[in-house]
Amino acid sequence: MVPVVRDGVPTPVPAPTSLEHAPVIVRDAVPADAAACAAIYAPYVRDTTITFEETPPSVEEMAGRMARAARQWAWLVAEVDGEVLGYAYAGRFKERVAFRWSSETSIYLAPDARGKGLGRVLYTALLDRLTERGYRRAVAVITQPNETSMAMHRSFGFTQVGLLPSIGFKHGAWRDVAWLVRSLGEGPVPGLTPDEPR
Ligand SMILES: CC(C)(COP(=O)(O)OP(=O)(O)OC[C@H]1O[C@@H](n2cnc3c(N)ncnc32)[C@H](O)[C@@H]1OP(=O)(O)O)[C@@H](O)C(=O)NCCC(=O)NCCS
Repeated sequence: MVPVVRDGVPTPVPAPTSLEHAPVIVRDAVPADAAACAAIYAPYVRDTTITFEETPPSVEEMAGRMARAARQWAWLVAEVDGEVLGYAYAGRFKERVAFRWSSETSIYLAPDARGKGLGRVLYTALLDRLTERGYRRAVAVITQPNETSMAMHRSFGFTQVGLLPSIGFKHGAWRDVAWLVRSLGEGPVPGLTPDEPR
């Protein structure tokens, strides 16, 4: 078991098998993590279609995104041996007010940190946090193909509910995007008005 520090309170979680030798800390991001998060994200922006951004955000822009996400949803980082190796966050799903119990989730790991169980630890903490805050639905928007992300989301109980064909154009070709959804906590309960997210 390794500690997960959430709001300063360590919570035991199962250690990812391949990182057993090094303690993994999942914690709320602080402004000083912006440079690491920007560095993790930049190659995905430049070299892949996983994100539809085309220009890597500056550290300042990243810090702003992190603060906005943390205020209302969550922005968590995974730290191993003092180094931030990945982050997961949630944000607004859609603007209209009745969507406010839903959030869109995302996760990025440093390339060398992939496939070692870190994604599972980080995403578990993210979904737990959103549940604690009273969100009822998590939505993932995944550019195709991305077998790893699709498999990870399915393993977390996400179900694909749609495929938007040729919805983005990046790196010289039209790209399809899958929409996946998962309930959080007790999910949407028919006939009951949910408590406000907090
Ligand atoms: C997607 C990502 C977050 C997964 O994190 P990870 O640490 O690599 O994944 P984990 O080792 O924790 O494995 C979690 C699950 O992902 C899936 N998975 C991981 N590696 C996989 C691979 N090479 N092929 C297929 N599925 C894979 C499996 O379902 C796995 O569950 P299991 O171990 O019970 O079989 C990570 O690979 C990543 O950052 N990828 C690039 C960015 C990205 O695609 N982000 C998602 C945007 S929608």
